[in-house]
Amino acid sequence: MPQLTNRRAVITGAGSGIGASIARAYAAEGARLVLADRNAASLAETAITCRNLGAEVFECLADVGTVEGAQASVYRCVEHFGGIDILVNNAGMLTQARCVDLSIEMWNDMLRVDLTSVFVASQRALPHMLAQRWGRIINVASQLGIKGGAELTHYAAAKAGVIGFTKSLALEVAKDNVLVNAIAPGPIETPLVGGISAEWKRAKRRTAPGPLRPGR
Ligand SMILES: NC(=O)c1ccc[n+]([C@@H]2O[C@H](COP(=O)([O-])OP(=O)(O)OC[C@H]3O[C@@H](n4cnc5c(N)ncnc54)[C@H](O)[C@@H]3O)[C@@H](O)[C@H]2O)c1
Repeated sequence: MPQLTNRRAVITGAGSGIGASIARAYAAEGARLVLADRNAASLAETAITCRNLGAEVFECLADVGTVEGAQASVYRCVEHFGGIDILVNNAGMLTQARCVDLSIEMWNDMLRVDLTSVFVASQRALPHMLAQRWGRIINVASQLGIKGGAELTHYAAAKAGVIGFTKSLALEVAKDNVLVNAIAPGPIETPLVGGISAEWKRAKRRTAPGPLRPGR
């Protein structure tokens, strides 16, 4: 039995990597989808794949780094499907710089895209979830939000913020059957990590548990 039959789900950052995989998995499980991304071509590609899996899909071209963009996919879901059951706050960006070199623009961009968007979309979805006494919010944080990462102070701060936001909101709304969780993946070779230096990745690989392989 598909697990998400007729569930109305929003997935941000659905054009690539983890978000695209979640979208395909949700489509295969019978969810109705609003997929959001700022990249029109990759968004369309994921949408086609999900439709081929039998899902009803609406695309939402939006930059979650703005309030309008962060709320757009939730509003589209309510408009097309009459409500929202599941929100996956997955869209994220990653840049690398030493703290001494970080501009205030880089810091603010990171917080807007990786943290503030999570608050905005969740806040817009909550009234619908609370009214129907059913909702699931899944925020994609990162192990770096727990462990930290050199030259990633802005990213780690944003993801630590996602974890704190998630835990606090979970305490606030679990009694209303709205469950809020975060996942904190380790390194996955997606386009996101394309901007990270080879040297950083080598050093990171050495800290990961597992059998020694060439290149570690
Ligand atoms: N890849 C990893 O190693 C890793 C590890 C831990 C956490 N994460 C987190 O997982 C999430 C997904 O990352 P991924 O690895 O799949 O990356 P990815 O680059 O493959 O996919 C991210 C998607 O988000 C979209 N996006 C980025 N900024 C956006 C914005 N402002 N508005 C709308 N869409 C935007 C991109 O266009 C892209 O389609 C991110 O939140 C990332 O921080 C990734």
